[in-house]
Amino acid sequence: MEIENIEIIDGINDNNKNDIVKWTNEKGRNFLEQWAGKSLDFPLTENQIDYLKDIYSIFCENEFVGIIQKIRKEMDNVHIGRFLINPELTGRGLGKRTLIEFINLIFQDENVNSITLNVFDYNAGAKKLYEKVGFEVVNVTENPMKKYMMIMKKGEK
Ligand SMILES: CC(C)(COP(=O)(O)OP(=O)(O)OC[C@H]1O[C@@H](n2cnc3c(N)ncnc32)[C@H](O)[C@@H]1OP(=O)(O)O)[C@@H](O)C(=O)NCCC(=O)NCCS
Repeated sequence: MEIENIEIIDGINDNNKNDIVKWTNEKGRNFLEQWAGKSLDFPLTENQIDYLKDIYSIFCENEFVGIIQKIRKEMDNVHIGRFLINPELTGRGLGKRTLIEFINLIFQDENVNSITLNVFDYNAGAKKLYEKVGFEVVNVTENPMKKYMMIMKKGEK
C-alpha cells in the first residue's frame, strides 16, 4: 500500500465504527485493553464508540485504516490515545506517519505546548514508535500492569 497520502479527519462514520468493532472483537478482550485501557467494555460495540469525543479517522489513499483520539485537554497539554491501525496493515509505517501528522495538527493550536499519552510496558512496539517520534517517559505506574506516561513538548522534536 502506498502510504504517501495520510489523512486525519475529525469524526468517524458508522461503517468505520463497525470496522473498529470487528478488528477489536476478533482479537479479543486483551487487545481492547491494549489500545483503550479500561475505558471500553469487551465486546466493543458501535454505541461505545459514539461516546468517544474528539475521535479522528485515519485514511490512507481513501481507505479507512484506523483511529486516534484527543482524549482530553488539560491546561496547555493534550492527552491522546485510542490509537489503532487495522491489524492487517500494521508494521508498514502507517502508525508513524499518522502520529507525526497528528502531533503537527495538535501543535498548530498555539495554546498547546505538550502532548501526553499512556502505553503499557508489554506494548513494546508502540512504545518504541512513540520514542522514535520524540516522546519521553515522564511517569511509570503499576496498577497492576506496568504503564508509562510519555510526553512530547513543543519544539523538542
Ligand atoms: C501501535 C500502532 C498504532 C502502530 O502503528 P503501525 O502502523 O503498526 O506502526 P509503524 O509501522 O508506523 O511503526 C513505526 C515504528 O515503530 C516500531 N514498531 C512498530 N511496531 C513494532 C513492534 N511490534 N515491535 C517493534 N517495533 C515496532 C518500528 O520500529 C517502526 O519504526 P520504523 O518505521 O523506523 O521501522 C499499531 O501497531 C496498532 O494499532 N497496534 C495495536 C493497538 C495498540 O496497541 N495501540 C497503541 C496503544 S498505546
